[in-house]
Amino acid sequence: AACHKGEPDVTGLTDRAPSSSLGTVLVIIPTYQERENLPLIVGRVRAATPDAHLLIADDDSPDGTGVVADELAAADDHVHVLHRAGKEGLGAAYVAGFRWALDAGYDVIVEMDADGSHQPELLPSLLAALETADVVLGSRWIAGGQVRNWPKSREILSRGANLYARIMLGIPLRDATGGYRAYRAKVLRSFDLDTVRSQGYCFQVDLALRSLRRGFRVVEVPIVFVERELGASKMSRAIVVEAFWRVTVWGVRGRMRKASHAAGGSRRGSPPSRQDSDPHGWRNPK
Ligand code: GDD
Ligand code: MN
Repeated sequence: AACHKGEPDVTGLTDRAPSSSLGTVLVIIPTYQERENLPLIVGRVRAATPDAHLLIADDDSPDGTGVVADELAAADDHVHVLHRAGKEGLGAAYVAGFRWALDAGYDVIVEMDADGSHQPELLPSLLAALETADVVLGSRWIAGGQVRNWPKSREILSRGANLYARIMLGIPLRDATGGYRAYRAKVLRSFDLDTVRSQGYCFQVDLALRSLRRGFRVVEVPIVFVERELGASKMSRAIVVEAFWRVTVWGVRGRMRKASHAAGGSRRGSPPSRQDSDPHGWRNPK
């Protein structure tokens, strides 16, 4: 049945209505200790993109964020909760969320922080860019992008990490570590999510690299990142150390592969399983 704007949703047919030609949208919000922020961010996403659904992926936060999430879900059929057993890191929470999203059949999957740094009001601009792309990265470090209220130390860390990733991995992205992005479902479906080892924020670099090497169209749109007012960041030394060594390993592996190709390493015909087992391997052009 045709559904016209402004008509009451009496049939339920507009539940999970496509936001645009892109199809159905799921915004995944990972949470650890975000009790105060969660109702605010959920309200803002619901207002900014009324058709989109939300999935809160909570790692059994001791502050009871999971209980708040359940209350929000009970009051709104667009809100869903994925309870995880304990704190396993941002990467693991997103992988579980992606699996949930693909099983449920969403067409577009969005990553967004719970603390208000990723303004839901900018989501329409990310989705508009996705009309002509496969992955859209909200970028702090391109023209029009900025950070607000971030300590200089965080800005230096982020710029440094992005410079290192760009050089080490040979990728053209200005903000590969950012966590405000939108993927077409086919991109996530093309990945072997079992091979994602990244636990911390290097997860973002990991997925950007996978997307590029599989030949998907990755674009950046400017965002204004606003530092949180409530709660605390989970950034830690361990997260920085993990990102540094993983990016180094990915970069060295990529160089070795290039060198072996140049030396005719594929002459003997390496078994296809070898390439498939490398999560960052370049795909042969189709
Ligand atoms: N489920 C779960 N498990 N959620 C987590 C975990 C975890 O182990 N660690 C962090 N989160 C959630 C937080 O609750 C928040 O919603 C989001 O992930 C981002 O965490 P923050 O601690 O607020 O990150 P940040 O502001 O310091 O870091 C920002 O910059 C990073 C580097 O550019 C974020 O935008 C990151 O996504 C980004 O990678
Ligand atoms: Mn934050």
